[in-house]
Amino acid sequence: MKGILLAGGSGTRLHPLTRAVSKQLLPVYNKPMVYYPLSVLMLAGIREVLVISNPDNIDLFRHLLGDGTRLGMQIDFAVQPSPDGIAEAFTIGSEHIGTDPVALILGDNIFHGPNFSPLLRRNVQEIDGCVLFGYAVSDPERYGVGVVDAEGTLLELEEKPARPRSNLAVTGLYLYDNDVVDIAKNLQPSARGELEITDVNRVYLERGNARLVNLGRGFAWLDTGTHDSLLLASQYVQVLEQRQGTRIACVEEIAYRMGFIDADDCYRLGVEIGASDYGAYLRDIAKGET
Ligand code: G1P
Repeated sequence: MKGILLAGGSGTRLHPLTRAVSKQLLPVYNKPMVYYPLSVLMLAGIREVLVISNPDNIDLFRHLLGDGTRLGMQIDFAVQPSPDGIAEAFTIGSEHIGTDPVALILGDNIFHGPNFSPLLRRNVQEIDGCVLFGYAVSDPERYGVGVVDAEGTLLELEEKPARPRSNLAVTGLYLYDNDVVDIAKNLQPSARGELEITDVNRVYLERGNARLVNLGRGFAWLDTGTHDSLLLASQYVQVLEQRQGTRIACVEEIAYRMGFIDADDCYRLGVEIGASDYGAYLRDIAKGET
């Protein structure tokens, strides 16, 4: 399965923080926001990732992530010239996807919870249709919303409904079979002029080929869309990391634990990152001390 990480958008709701730099490069506690969605793709076992961003920021992502070799991955970059919708990722990324299935993750989505990696790995195997991940929120009108029946079967999808029919937000992580490329090519822009991901998902729903996995209570799907929620996300990461002495979304550690790189590589990355406690953490991981 290929991965696409979409880090576009203008981030106007976070101005002036995002006037000069992309939202997905802002810090969430001790690492750039984009590390969190990248780590999700890695935990799913995905090693080939296309990062899509706007023309002003693409080189910053390239500078931060490189070509992926240091993580035992292949990371490529592509530009979305203007913010014309999430589903455009599949036309921009069609060559990268080739004939494979694909996982799309939005660059500002933070997921954290127990047993997430096995859940992801189960769902990326032999994918037929699409798999969405739902999460109960107090403000569903801000998101794509899914309506499920008592058995959990997905019945309906709506994008930012004024009167949501459920509290189940559709998160920014989507798994698709290869049909998604053709579906995206044939999509019409919505009333707001965008190629909506919810319209892609509706095609699968109408085909009877869409599943929604509820992430459930005890899982964290954090918002980073406002100044307050961005700070809360940092605090969430800080609380857990300090309490347990482990790191959330430390992509170098994940690369090591997933077997993308070996202990020597991990140690070298720790040295490269240098004097910060992040670097020291990687060196400890490599020595088996954490
Ligand atoms: C997008 C999707 C929405 C989804 C959300 C998750 O909204 O359109 O369906 O629930 O991401 O983060 P946006 O954040 O682009 O407004």
